[in-house]
Amino acid sequence: MDQPDTAKVATEMVQVTIDGASVAVQKGATLLEACQQMGTEIPTLCYLETLTPVNVCRVCVVEVERNRTLVPACSRMAEDGMVVSTDSERVRHSRKMVLEFLGSSVDLSLAEDEVGDWMERYGADPARYGPVSAPAAAGERDARKPGHHHHVNGETAEGVHQPTKVDNTLYIRDYSRCILCYKCVEACGIDAQGTYAIAVAGRGFDARISTEMDLPLGDGACVFCGNCIGVCPTGALMFRSEWELRRADLWDPQAQSVTRTVCSYCGVGCNLELHTQDNRIVKVTSPQDHEVTSGHLCIKGRFGYDYVQNLGDVEQNSIDEVLQAARRRSPK
Ligand code: SF4
Ligand code: SF4
Ligand code: FES
Repeated sequence: MDQPDTAKVATEMVQVTIDGASVAVQKGATLLEACQQMGTEIPTLCYLETLTPVNVCRVCVVEVERNRTLVPACSRMAEDGMVVSTDSERVRHSRKMVLEFLGSSVDLSLAEDEVGDWMERYGADPARYGPVSAPAAAGERDARKPGHHHHVNGETAEGVHQPTKVDNTLYIRDYSRCILCYKCVEACGIDAQGTYAIAVAGRGFDARISTEMDLPLGDGACVFCGNCIGVCPTGALMFRSEWELRRADLWDPQAQSVTRTVCSYCGVGCNLELHTQDNRIVKVTSPQDHEVTSGHLCIKGRFGYDYVQNLGDVEQNSIDEVLQAARRRSPK
């Protein structure tokens, strides 16, 4: 069989028109990449450069001439001759609805800053759906059976609010903040960790991120790499240390600094970003653009920093007590 000329394929270009301007992009590039190349900003929620696009949030939709429906820019490939509108009335209306539905059902107060900017830009008004419904009891949403929709009263906006899951000393899961972007599932599974400890359970509005059989994290397949926390855009997955400090009203990003270093546990060379506050490490991330990690770490690099700061053996202050509570005591 004839093999393709790889050099030719690699340099093949396609021409697309975006908002009236023509741009040449490499064959295989997405419309999002074409827009980025032109400096046109497209909102995204479920997209991350280091993950396979799952195109579930639909906030990135654009209008393509002669296409019946709007298309997700993050996953639709640019084709020669395409004529694309990124800011038509239809596009703006669709983005507004997506943001409104999310804002009316999910707690977005800790979501990335851009989400608030987009809400404003597209005139999203989640409050027009009424007050959010009362939180579900612990485990109630996890127990819902597919195909058995409960009665809605029509007076409140149906929400996903529920108690935070605190079942280990390393990280918490606050699914009241979950927009079901699948990023954690991708990072836990095929794109990074290969552990498949979490997936989407349920159907329709009852769809939710879950461990197998809704087991506590420590009883399932989770290896506590924290890669799911690293990609979560809304604060639904959070370091236990950050969560405890926020609850004690001690979390202060303005007072934090980030120091880049190399993990000392093995010879792979993962880069770490140590977030410190009051001279204490409060969480550890890794730069997404780092060629070794792409933002992902293992349990040692992400959580194994206690030895650096000798917690508990120094003069006690509030932050020490809170961090001790987060990292030393068993969860209640
Ligand atoms: S900590 Fe790692 S293994 Fe556990 S659910 Fe998150 S990504 Fe999966
Ligand atoms: S927990 Fe976070 S990363 Fe996972 S689906 Fe929800 S919002 Fe997305
Ligand atoms: S960013 Fe494209 S569908 Fe979510």
